Amino acid sequence: MSLKIIGLGKGIPESCVSNDDLVSFLDTSDEWIVSRTGIKSRHVCTSEKLTDLSTAAALQALNKAGLSPKELDLIICTTIGGDYRTPSLACCVLERIGARCPAFDMNAACTGFIYALNVASAFLGAGSLVCGLGGETTGSLAGRQTSNYKNILIVCAEIMSTQMDWSDRNTCVLFGDGAAACVVTKGDMLKYIHLSAEADTSILNLPSGTGNSPFATERDESCFLNMQGREVFKFAVNAVEDEIEQALESLELQAKQIDWYILHQANKRIIDFIRMKLGQPEGKFPINIDRYGNLSSASVPLLLYEMLEDGLVKSGDVIFMSAFGAGMTAGSCVIVWE
Ligand code: ACO
Repeated sequence: MSLKIIGLGKGIPESCVSNDDLVSFLDTSDEWIVSRTGIKSRHVCTSEKLTDLSTAAALQALNKAGLSPKELDLIICTTIGGDYRTPSLACCVLERIGARCPAFDMNAACTGFIYALNVASAFLGAGSLVCGLGGETTGSLAGRQTSNYKNILIVCAEIMSTQMDWSDRNTCVLFGDGAAACVVTKGDMLKYIHLSAEADTSILNLPSGTGNSPFATERDESCFLNMQGREVFKFAVNAVEDEIEQALESLELQAKQIDWYILHQANKRIIDFIRMKLGQPEGKFPINIDRYGNLSSASVPLLLYEMLEDGLVKSGDVIFMSAFGAGMTAGSCVIVWE
C-alpha cells in the first residue's frame, strides 16, 4: 500500500544557541564547527518538554490536513527519548491533542521518519487482523484483514540537549532539539521505500544505565550519547550512496531525474560528498543543518515541511529522502509530490 502526505507541521524550541554561545563554556570555535559540520546555530529546550514540541507539530500538521484529532486512527512517534520511558511520547501527544486511537513509539534512531512511513503504509494497507478463535482458516471465524486505518499521524521529535554530555565537544556541538509531524492517508505518493539495519551498536549509542539496582554486578550510570565520529561518517556516506543506487535502480531512474534530495542533516560534508558523487547541482540538496544542527529523526520531515512552506516543492516533483542512524540503521524512500 502506498500513502499520501496531507499535512506537515513543526515544533521548535524558542531558544537559539549560536556557535559563539558555546565558546563561553567549551573549547571550540565557530570556525571549527562551521567548516567541519556546516552548523551555525541550533535550537535548545529551556522550559519546553518534548511533548510540547510534538504537540505543536502535530496540531499544525492536522490543521494543514484539515482534520480534527478525533479523526486520527493511529499516532506513531519516532524518538530516541521521550519525556518518559513509559508512557510513550505518542500517548503523551494523544492525551494533549485529545485523540482517541492507538498510539506507540518507534526507535530507529535518526532513520525514524523513513521507518515510520513504511510502518504507516503497512497499517494503511493491512489495518488490523481479525482472527478466528483458535486460528481457524475457514468459515465465519476465518482470519481476515480489515483496512480500518485511514488517517495516521507521524511525529518525529527529539530532545538531544538532555542526552548529550555538554562537556564533550565531539558531540554536543552537533545536535539540536525539535519536532516535525505529518499526517498520512491512503494514496499514491510513495513510490519506493527501503529500510536496512547493519549490526553495529558500538560506534553510536546512548546507554540506559543500570539505575540503582542493588543486584547489578556492574554499575553504569552514564547516560550520554557516545559517538565515534569518523566511523559514523564512513558508515553514513556508504549507506546513503547504497540507498540512492538501489532506489534509482529499482525505479529505473537516473540521478538527474530526482528533483530533490532530502538527506539526513548530520553533517553538511556528508551531503556535499554525496552530491559531488552524483554530479548533481547544489540546489537539489536543501539543508537546514546550518540553523538546527542534527535533529535526529526530525531532520528530514522538518526539511520537507520548510521546503513546502517556502513554496519550493511543486506538484509532480520527484523527492528522494534518506537517513541513517544508530543501530546502524538506514533507509530511503521516493515520493512524487501531489
Ligand atoms: N571544536 C574544536 N575541535 C574539535 C571539536 C569541536 N567541537 N570536536 C572535535 N574537535 C577536534 C578533535 O579533538 C580532533 O583534535 P585532534 O586532532 O587534536 O585530536 C580534531 O578536531 C579532529 O577530530 P575529528 O573527529 O577527526 O574531526 P572530523 O573532521 O571527523 O569531524 C565530526 C568530527 C563532525 C563528528 C564528523 O566525524 C562527523 O560528522 N561524523 C559523523 C557524525 C554523524 O553523522 N552523526 C550522526 C549519526 S546519527 C544521528 O544523527 C544520531
